[in-house]
Amino acid sequence: MTGPFTVAIDGPAAAGKGTIARALAARFGFAHLDTGLLYRAVGAMGGDPVAAAQALRPEDLQRPDLRTLEAGQAASRVAALPGVRAALLTFQRRFARRDGGAVLDGRDIGTVICPEAEVKFFVTASAEIRAWRRWLELGGEAAPDRFEAVLEGVRERDARDMGRADAPLRPARDAILIDTTSQDADSAAEMAVVQVQAVLPGP
Ligand code: DC
Repeated sequence: MTGPFTVAIDGPAAAGKGTIARALAARFGFAHLDTGLLYRAVGAMGGDPVAAAQALRPEDLQRPDLRTLEAGQAASRVAALPGVRAALLTFQRRFARRDGGAVLDGRDIGTVICPEAEVKFFVTASAEIRAWRRWLELGGEAAPDRFEAVLEGVRERDARDMGRADAPLRPARDAILIDTTSQDADSAAEMAVVQVQAVLPGP
């Protein structure tokens, strides 16, 4: 496909946004941006977060320590700063409207970054099931954190991401809701592929 076409995927941590975004990118040849990584990189850089966001380079997104629970919490804290969000806006908007199509996953893609996205999904699941998946990813019984600590972290991050004044996490009015509490992200991704196929312009 040529020309811009944007799929916006928003939702809380560990709901399955990444799995769905990667499936859509693979199926339709869209470029994929995990926007959480931008905030994770800014949080990990230390110093003044606004200056870090303004100076962010592609190689900063390759740091190996960005996937940890701590990096997620640090990201959520810097993400509440309007100066940080403003510094990352143009890059995300350009990415969203590139030729050939793009899928972006995050918290404010359908509401703020790309309100004109052709398809919007809001992916969610109960806090317990999201914490459970994250805990298993971290190694389950072998994980450094107890399940209760992971659940506490998920709830804390949800409250901060939904409660902030600037670009809070919420579904866009025209978002398609996907609940992965009782279905896995792979079957949710198959449904998302069908939804996108239905609106994709023909050849
Ligand atoms: O999706 P993630 O868990 O990697 O995101 C980490 C944090 O970054 C999340 O708790 C809030 C913030 N974030 C945001 O505010 N806006 C986005 N579009 C993506 C992430």
